[in-house]
Amino acid sequence: MNFVSIKELSKEQISSLITRALEFKKGTALELKESIANIFLEPSTRTMLSFRKAQNNLKMEVYDVNIANSSFKKGETLEDTLLNLQAMGINNFVIRNTVEGYWKDFKGKFNIINGGDGTKNHPSQALLDATTIYEHFGTLENLKVLIVGDVKHSRVYHSNKDLLEKFNSTVDMTGPKELGGDGEDISEKLNQYDVVMFLRIQHERHSQEFSVEEYNKHFGLNINNVNNLKDNAIFLHPGPINRDVEIASELLYDHPKNKILDQVENGVYSRMAIMEFVCKNM
Ligand code: CP
Repeated sequence: MNFVSIKELSKEQISSLITRALEFKKGTALELKESIANIFLEPSTRTMLSFRKAQNNLKMEVYDVNIANSSFKKGETLEDTLLNLQAMGINNFVIRNTVEGYWKDFKGKFNIINGGDGTKNHPSQALLDATTIYEHFGTLENLKVLIVGDVKHSRVYHSNKDLLEKFNSTVDMTGPKELGGDGEDISEKLNQYDVVMFLRIQHERHSQEFSVEEYNKHFGLNINNVNNLKDNAIFLHPGPINRDVEIASELLYDHPKNKILDQVENGVYSRMAIMEFVCKNM
């Protein structure tokens, strides 16, 4: 069983995963007697450590591959690494990889949970975002969502769009033209949306430079435009944040519409639900 792309999940499977995540949040306990290895070939704080926390909560047998001291450094391929770990009796893998769709070659051979690949898929992020949105609105149906920023390089954008459109929500995107958006200032649009999600400028994926002040004024949230948000709207960011670029520091983290740390908290419970789904072949 795999959890690799939102496109491969049905609306019913997503709804069940959210329900289960919220049961775990309320205190449901589960012991998952399974082995799992975490292989992060790209940097990560939230995804790696919330999978780790979720694995501890589920009392799993966990192996963290230290990439810097591993045989990846000697040129061993990901497939050979997985075959060797599987031969040791490790049956499940959380993987983050720069290679888009790396998991397509592994289907039927390994149980893969995708911790993010290339610029197209970050399914566990989309699930925790959906759990956070569902928690606030009580539904994922017919919401209006704006995703702002570096949409061109964002796997978070693609996975969120894939998920929310399954529930008949509208997902618009905007940002600088150089990063895939329409280049229009967001301030006047903010009052049209239930959810506004800001994306990090991914400097590691391109060489575009922006003035911090100009970017935040036109494509970021700041004290001048935050009150344009609808009364019941929320704003999100997957992290890590470029402070004062995507969101002004004054709005981190105690603004009532700011759900960023709820996203992080829900990440642990969503990932518990994902590992149960994969390990129990649900
Ligand atoms: N949101 C997210 O994927 O953060 P990390 O890169 O820290 O895992």
